[in-house]
Amino acid sequence: MNPLARQLNETLERENKHVYEMLSKLGKDIYFPKEGILSQSAEAKNKATKYNATIGIATENGKPMHLASIQNTLSAYAPKDLYPYAPPEGKPELRAAWRSKMLEENPSLRGKSFGNPIVTNALTHGLSIAADLFVGQGDSVIIPDKNWENYELTFGIRRGAELVYYPLYNEQGTFNAAGLRDAILAQRSKGKAFVVLNFPNNPTGYTPNAQEGREIVAAVQAGAEAGINVVVVTDDAYFGLFFEDSLHESLFGQLAGLHPRILAIKVDGATKEEYVWGFRVASLLTPAKAPLFSPLSSKKRWASSAPPYPAARIRRKRSCCTRSSRRTSPPRSRKSSAL
Ligand SMILES: Cc1ncc(COP(=O)(O)O)c(C=O)c1O
Repeated sequence: MNPLARQLNETLERENKHVYEMLSKLGKDIYFPKEGILSQSAEAKNKATKYNATIGIATENGKPMHLASIQNTLSAYAPKDLYPYAPPEGKPELRAAWRSKMLEENPSLRGKSFGNPIVTNALTHGLSIAADLFVGQGDSVIIPDKNWENYELTFGIRRGAELVYYPLYNEQGTFNAAGLRDAILAQRSKGKAFVVLNFPNNPTGYTPNAQEGREIVAAVQAGAEAGINVVVVTDDAYFGLFFEDSLHESLFGQLAGLHPRILAIKVDGATKEEYVWGFRVASLLTPAKAPLFSPLSSKKRWASSAPPYPAARIRRKRSCCTRSSRRTSPPRSRKSSAL
């Protein structure tokens, strides 16, 4: 194992040994290369006042070199905001802005410890990173029987996980929290469960109300209290498309910091929330004290050299649209855009 990976793992193990145990083999092996182009560029950015020969972009007259034919179509934006590589975790302004947005829209996150979100190339990429870091061959990935079909590819085909399904609805036609709890508790012998929560749910649009939300959180907590390490990903792709009587925030807020054996990961993004499907920009967030968060974010370096850059300049508008009944109207407009 590379000494840098070992060092990251030791930090993780010291901070929370359960989170360390949750890592896949790949997650344990991966590291951030200290002596590579990225760290040298970051250093040069602060210290190289005369020449910076580190990063692989060309500059001209103090600006990133660019083609006039491209710039002419993007003249509202300065070349410095369009062409350079972003840092591996994403542009700081975008990360800070997305963090404030999360706090504003998820009151239960206030007062919790969490870092700046890591920028990804849309939600599919964020889910893949979570899978690479935390899903190994034979691990159980728990999803409802009504789900986005790409989970099977992301976790099953790509990472060799065993997909464990529970019925989304109970006999009353509400969320089947008991089924989720049983599926988690059935992982006792493995000692680990990877749970994906996706609300509003693709394909049904179902979104829990406050009571169902509490039951879902209790189901995850029951797993942790039974000694199971639970990675729980909230796939908030359709965040904002809430019903009048449903929860109006992500369950991530309640799950963050709930139990040492629970690692909550929030994957959300602009693609659907802000109607910018082609921009391919999203975020991945896991709550943690800095010593835990930073090794985890270092470990995603391989996944993309740099996330999208220009999207950071584009102002967001407010999300809208509350639906009137939780059970009858699927997220039509968003569903039509599903990949
Ligand atoms: C539940 C769910 N998660 C994630 C995605 C992927 O989103 P993105 O286009 O941001 O990769 C989709 C796309 O349809 C989805 O339905």
